[in-house]
Amino acid sequence: MDAFADIAETRLDDAAREAFARDVIAGLSGAVKTLPCKWFYDLRGSELFEEITRLDEYYPTRTELALLADIAPGLGGALPREAWVVEFGSGSSRKSDLFLNALDAPRGYVPIDVAADYLEAAAGALADRLPHLEVVPVVGDFTAEIDLPPMLENAPTVGFFPGSTIGNFEPAQAARFLERARRMLGAEAHMVVGVDLKKDLDVLLAAYDDAKGVTADFNLNLLDRINRELDGGFDRDRFRHRVRYDDAEGRVEMHLESTVDQTVRVDGHAFDFRAGETIHTENSYKYAVDDFARVARDAGWRPARHWTDADDLFSIHLLAAA
Ligand code: AVJ
Repeated sequence: MDAFADIAETRLDDAAREAFARDVIAGLSGAVKTLPCKWFYDLRGSELFEEITRLDEYYPTRTELALLADIAPGLGGALPREAWVVEFGSGSSRKSDLFLNALDAPRGYVPIDVAADYLEAAAGALADRLPHLEVVPVVGDFTAEIDLPPMLENAPTVGFFPGSTIGNFEPAQAARFLERARRMLGAEAHMVVGVDLKKDLDVLLAAYDDAKGVTADFNLNLLDRINRELDGGFDRDRFRHRVRYDDAEGRVEMHLESTVDQTVRVDGHAFDFRAGETIHTENSYKYAVDDFARVARDAGWRPARHWTDADDLFSIHLLAAA
């Protein structure tokens, strides 16, 4: 039995539902329609993302995992012993285990995530696998201000932000996030960040537009979620998955394109779509190693070391606060 078997659906509490409604109404009301990508991850969305990570075309997950395993000794040697590890987003347990096992006698583990039920299940399972570790899950949105448990004060801390999730922020937002993380983690902090690299256009586009259509399903599931949780009236057959690379910005964009002129109601509001008009649902920024080091420096971190795989697909950056 896996730890997630009894989770029927991720439940939003009232405050989160309100935040979702606000984001959707605001995002669809502008001249350019957008939706924040953080809302992809309901139960179905999380399952679809898991499936994406196993696709041939989606290179980031397996490349980062292999790289982490490869560099574990060097990474562990560069980080303090008996540190508290703070993971932003309770990601895949494979990565968390690899990372914690790379460290010398980690003191505790603080996974942060908005999805409370997922977080509890993941934290419980990890605590069973690593019984010497103190596990203190924190329910919260790491894109906003978060209070860490008091026992982390004056202890060595290591932030862990894998998966190139940082690529979902615009570079200025990424710098603000890193700055906040530095303040949260304290003067003795380190941070380990997984960052996807710029590469061949065909490879990038295929990773976000796979042959089996799993990513299309993942993107369109956002409309189903709006229908279910916000009483929306989207017909997913009248939208299609679109992917483009913006060379000037250095980012892969995902959109949902309306295939017809239509009006869609959500939570009592009406939104008009022209045929061909899109909802911009995700940015995935791709960095050169030096570009990311600059963002980290802008946020007050000292880029200490970085590693890339042999094919230069993915990078892992070690940052130091002091
Ligand atoms: C988990 C946010 C890093 O941007 O590559 C995968 C999400 N979107 N396929 C990414 C995603 C479409 C993924 N991140």
